[in-house]
Amino acid sequence: MKKNTIDPLKPIVALCKRRGFVYPGSEIYGGFANTYSYGPYGVEIKNNIKNLWWNFFVRSRSDMVGIDGPILLHPLTWKASGHIEGFSDALIDCKECKARFRVDKLIEDQTNQDVEGLSLEDLTDIMIKKDISCPKCKSKNFTKARHFNLMFKTEMSKTDAEHSTAYLRPETAQAIFLDYKNVVDTMRVKIPFGIAQIGKAFRNEITPGNFIFRLIEFDQMEIEYFVEQNTWQEHFEKWLDEMKKFCSMIGLDSNKLKEAEHPKEKLSHYSKRTIDITYDFPFGTNELYGLAYRTNFDLCQHQKHSKVSLEYIDNVNNKRFIPHVIEPTFGLDRTILALLCDAYDEEKLENGETRTVMHFSKNIAPVKVAIFPLMKKPDLIKEARNIFDSLKIKYATEYDEAGAIGKRYRRQDELGTPYCITVDYQTLEDQTVTIRERDSMKQERIKIENIKSTLLNYFEES
Ligand code: GAP
Repeated sequence: MKKNTIDPLKPIVALCKRRGFVYPGSEIYGGFANTYSYGPYGVEIKNNIKNLWWNFFVRSRSDMVGIDGPILLHPLTWKASGHIEGFSDALIDCKECKARFRVDKLIEDQTNQDVEGLSLEDLTDIMIKKDISCPKCKSKNFTKARHFNLMFKTEMSKTDAEHSTAYLRPETAQAIFLDYKNVVDTMRVKIPFGIAQIGKAFRNEITPGNFIFRLIEFDQMEIEYFVEQNTWQEHFEKWLDEMKKFCSMIGLDSNKLKEAEHPKEKLSHYSKRTIDITYDFPFGTNELYGLAYRTNFDLCQHQKHSKVSLEYIDNVNNKRFIPHVIEPTFGLDRTILALLCDAYDEEKLENGETRTVMHFSKNIAPVKVAIFPLMKKPDLIKEARNIFDSLKIKYATEYDEAGAIGKRYRRQDELGTPYCITVDYQTLEDQTVTIRERDSMKQERIKIENIKSTLLNYFEES
């Protein structure tokens, strides 16, 4: 991926701050690199995605259950899973300005050469031979490439003097593997079945700063689907289809989505096959989601290290085996970024003005309906408030009486609110209001008593 000199995300980042979607982390202290807060509208989008995901993959299926496991897992988990040994990036430091970089990204950015899988020695050699320079200070004086583990360490005090190291989980998946036996023992699950989880993961990443694309603290929505070994291919194909259905359900532009099969040499240590679903972000095509065939690597490793049998007993066919796993994994923050990029639009209007509008699909929009009194007059306010009260339980509804009506429409356009309802002087005469549709900006007059049925129709249409 070539670096752009103009940051294509700039207008989206600015809108996110201006409108309360995403704020820079710890801003009053000057910021804290690669951390962000979701503001009031961002958290609504996040919850909408989580709910859609959970309803689609867990509640609407009889072969899925959900859990919410801990962030801190027994330290042996990470020895068993291979993360202590192999979950690292090759990094290099500039000796002049002390900046630290991922070697593969640095080489790729300056030469377009794909160097994944190369040894530390080879990477260090290429840095010298290709005359790579520090993007910050232009020096060519680097340390050798070294491996840095991506897991965040923390200390747990056993006594005042004694501490032991624990890790913040770098993937939610392992919490699922640790609870696999409990789920089999307590629920009436039969293979094939899956366990889903939404939660935080942490990685000490050196990031190129593409907003919320690569964070050190992020949310994953993951499924571990347990199958018999000889059926993994058919389940893999089915899960790829389900993942695509989810993409379309949340309104992602299918033209920007692609599949990228990992070549053998790029597979993670646990995977025999991986397909990424990529998205054409404004800064380049990058991984959005992943689908991996993890074999029975994780369960075998946990059985070995815990000395607890993780065999599945199939009483009907009189078989015992360690199930194989298909893993569909979804990054929540990347989903939000892709939806923000898809939705963002600067439209030239007939009067020469530019309108910024977020074309979120209705199930993602953080506010579904906004209610305005045309002017700050008691009669209009009373009527508008009554309408607001009658809708707020069913829809995420906002009431706004501040400033000129045009500005209030523009504000809702930037939030991506599908419908705005305005109470004006005619309302007081004939009990009708205007309802304005976000994308066409068309307004129609409807009776107050028909607002609920009209909205029901409009939201069901989508
Ligand atoms: N359990 C498998 C696993 O963790 P991964 O490809 O490393 O696989 C899964 O991560 C998903 O999590 C990615 O497809 C991406 O959406 C998201 N993700 C990974 N690292 C991330 C980061 N540093 N910031 C934000 N999202 C990230």
